Amino acid sequence: MTKRYRGYEAFRIVSEVSRIISSSLDLNKVGDLVLRESMKALDADHTSLFLLDESSSHLILTRAKGFSEDEMDNIKLLGSWEIINDQLVKKKKSLIVNDVHKNPIFKKKRVYFSKEKFPVNSFLAVPLAKDDKIIGALIVSNRNRPGHLFTKEDEKLLRALSNHIAIALLNAKLYQDLKNLFISTVKSLVKAVDAKDRYTSGHSERVMKYSLAIGKELGLDEETLEILKLSSLLHDVGKIGIKESILAKPAKLLGYERSQMNRHPAIGVGIVEGIENSHKIIRGILEHHERFDGKGYPNHLKGLAISLEGRIIAVADTFDALTTDRPYQKGYSKEEALLEIKKESFTQFDPKVIKAFLKSFSKHPDIWNT
Ligand SMILES: [Fe+2]
Repeated sequence: MTKRYRGYEAFRIVSEVSRIISSSLDLNKVGDLVLRESMKALDADHTSLFLLDESSSHLILTRAKGFSEDEMDNIKLLGSWEIINDQLVKKKKSLIVNDVHKNPIFKKKRVYFSKEKFPVNSFLAVPLAKDDKIIGALIVSNRNRPGHLFTKEDEKLLRALSNHIAIALLNAKLYQDLKNLFISTVKSLVKAVDAKDRYTSGHSERVMKYSLAIGKELGLDEETLEILKLSSLLHDVGKIGIKESILAKPAKLLGYERSQMNRHPAIGVGIVEGIENSHKIIRGILEHHERFDGKGYPNHLKGLAISLEGRIIAVADTFDALTTDRPYQKGYSKEEALLEIKKESFTQFDPKVIKAFLKSFSKHPDIWNT
């Protein structure tokens, strides 16, 4: 049965879908919403989203919904079909095909796959474009549903949706690129900090890796993991304000030197405070040397008064410090470091965090290879 959209109904669907897909800037989430909403709006069995790879000018399948894993491999082929590329990418037009297996164009092209392997009987494909530039294609398709054909009305609706979809995808991509740029800038900054002490090269990135492993084991959500990622990467950024003679001293620090060194969490906060939205990452930086028993620094916070990020980074930081060779001390093996840390549960560290650390250590030993 074909579907008819009256003017108002089509307008309602387009505004609703546009609202939903613009609700996130997470590229994966936007991609999933695009698939779900276009499938629902067109009452289709499956949808597939292709993005144009500019270097090869090929449509690459990025995600699809409604297909089994085996079928997905064959759906990828759609992006390389000449007719799709010619119609959508070159001519910037849509394409409706209502019986793939009988269609003369595809017959002539010797479509050699069976209905089982390629479960698409009919499909509607529209280009995704922004300012006349093709960025990809969206294809909604049906299995064999007798009488359920794609119409010009469907095409109009999907084309109207495609403009909003292209904008939502481009915004999310831009946001992702900016985030990547920010992270790589931060990584260069912490590399410069780590380089001040030749014995701590790569320390910050390893602490980030360990912190995220613990955070994932604790089941933290995406947003908290993102905060943990930045605060662990930047936890020692304040060392930029500590004299090299103290930082790289090849022996234990004396009283005055120790008190200078202990200023680095607060100096770090001073540095990141200038970054927009930095309030979320400040506590992880400030509190990574606090101890669960209240004997840490700089504020002698105790137990759960220490932020979760601070409690996690403390374990990750200690693991890396223990397993790194120092001029006055050979680094521990990872198993020795684990035992040392375990001993400090309840005193230096939060037992809940230690439990997650131990779990991650046995489940993903490769992450904890030093
Ligand atoms: Fe530190």
